[in-house]
Amino acid sequence: MKELFLSIPSLIIFLHVISAVLWVGGMIAIRFAVHYSMQNIEEPKIKLARTLENLKRFFNMVIPAILVLLITAIMMILGLELKSTPLYKVALIKEVIWTVMTLIFIYIYIKRVKAQKYFDNGEVALAKATLEPIAKIFIPTNIVLGLIAIFLGVTLRGF
Ligand code: HEM
Repeated sequence: MKELFLSIPSLIIFLHVISAVLWVGGMIAIRFAVHYSMQNIEEPKIKLARTLENLKRFFNMVIPAILVLLITAIMMILGLELKSTPLYKVALIKEVIWTVMTLIFIYIYIKRVKAQKYFDNGEVALAKATLEPIAKIFIPTNIVLGLIAIFLGVTLRGF
């Protein structure tokens, strides 16, 4: 992995950054543009069906980005020999952030599947209640964590 990073460092860093752009930028777009525009759909069933589809498409799109983030992060730790520098602490904090963000992602992924089942069985109110914490708590939490991880990434950059 170290050799691979050293032979194509720009590509590895590019893949790391573009994955963060997709995940964090995608969450911001979904939460602050798509979510508010969806509220203008008056028919509750259509609103819910489209929300479930938006989330499904976004979640599936983001899975590769989450994996690429971790693989490229490990390559950078090895390739930049961060373990022997004071910056390693920052890399460890980023690993913790990645883990928490991924656990939250897995949790909301499962919640969406549950909400879909309720919806398909005609239990619209239950489906809505299952989705609500995703918009109110979990996506905003992951946005904040993602922004912190991006800021820490800048501090890890070799000037
Ligand atoms: C899994 C643990 C992670 C580690 C060990 C890690 C490590 C690093 C390192 C070493 C750099 C500096 C690259 C360079 O030399 O320029 C970096 C940059 C960056 N990281 Fe991470 N990262 C991790 C997770 C994340 C996560 C979860 C995000 C966002 C969701 C993220 C977003 C970024 C961004 C945007 C940069 C570019 C910053 C810049 O140089 O302008 N990283 N990361």
